[in-house]
Amino acid sequence: MKVAIVTGASAGIGLAITERLLAEGYAVLAAARNSDGRLDKVVAELQSRYGEQAVAAAVCDVRNFSSVRSMFERCDEYFGGLDVLINNAGIGHFKSIEQTAPEEWHAVIETNLNGVYYCSHLAIPRMRSRSGGYIINIGSLAGKEAFANAAAYCASKFALVGFSEALMQEVRYDNIRVSYIMPGSVRTSFTGRVVEAGVDEWKIAPEDIAQAVVNLLELDPRSLISRVEIRPSKPPKKA
Ligand SMILES: NC(=O)c1ccc[n+]([C@@H]2O[C@H](COP(=O)([O-])OP(=O)(O)OC[C@H]3O[C@@H](n4cnc5c(N)ncnc54)[C@H](OP(=O)(O)O)[C@@H]3O)[C@@H](O)[C@H]2O)c1
Repeated sequence: MKVAIVTGASAGIGLAITERLLAEGYAVLAAARNSDGRLDKVVAELQSRYGEQAVAAAVCDVRNFSSVRSMFERCDEYFGGLDVLINNAGIGHFKSIEQTAPEEWHAVIETNLNGVYYCSHLAIPRMRSRSGGYIINIGSLAGKEAFANAAAYCASKFALVGFSEALMQEVRYDNIRVSYIMPGSVRTSFTGRVVEAGVDEWKIAPEDIAQAVVNLLELDPRSLISRVEIRPSKPPKKA
């Protein structure tokens, strides 16, 4: 059984990726901070469907290196190795730079960038010991098209592009592939948005991002789709 770690697995895109990987026969270590007990609840439900041998929870704050290290040690103990890392955990504070407090700036950069470095740093030797692996980073179209009142978020996602491309070149001869996915608007509760039936149904579904992940994983290892841009087919027309 191949083993995956998914960060930010308790909601939205990370949850959809976790469910899809389980359906594809992967074992998954689902990681998040467990805000409001959400991770525990989600993983208990997934374990009732897929079994405790297939999925486990890791309470982890990707901003904290020792927390990330504990998550990888839990993965070693529970599943005995690692094949796939999905760096998905991410946050945004959408306000002007003048209004962005230093702690908000740090929270965005530390989650969306430092966390990806910490997880990749610890994943690579584990993947190398299994003769290969796959790291998929969830970026954003905000990593190529900047917009106002989003400087911290855009900076973190632009940086993720550079990180992913450099890492891709660094580990390719170890049979470790690196890709990044840049979604446009996805129908999740990101930054506290409310997801309601009948509202915003033009947006990308989180399951569509999970499909893109599976497409990457299924491609013959001789080839690598390094960057995926995915956007709503029919966003509301601008007046
Ligand atoms: N939704 C969009 O429109 C959109 C578009 C483009 C890109 N993206 C990217 O897609 C990724 C997922 O977004 P989403 O929409 O699925 O967000 P979401 O619904 O808000 O879910 C975020 C997940 O990340 C976890 N998380 C947040 N901070 C964390 C931390 N420090 N350590 C570990 N886990 C953490 C959350 O759980 P806890 O709170 O329990 O930690 C939750 O499981 C992000 O990287 C985001 O930038 C989203």
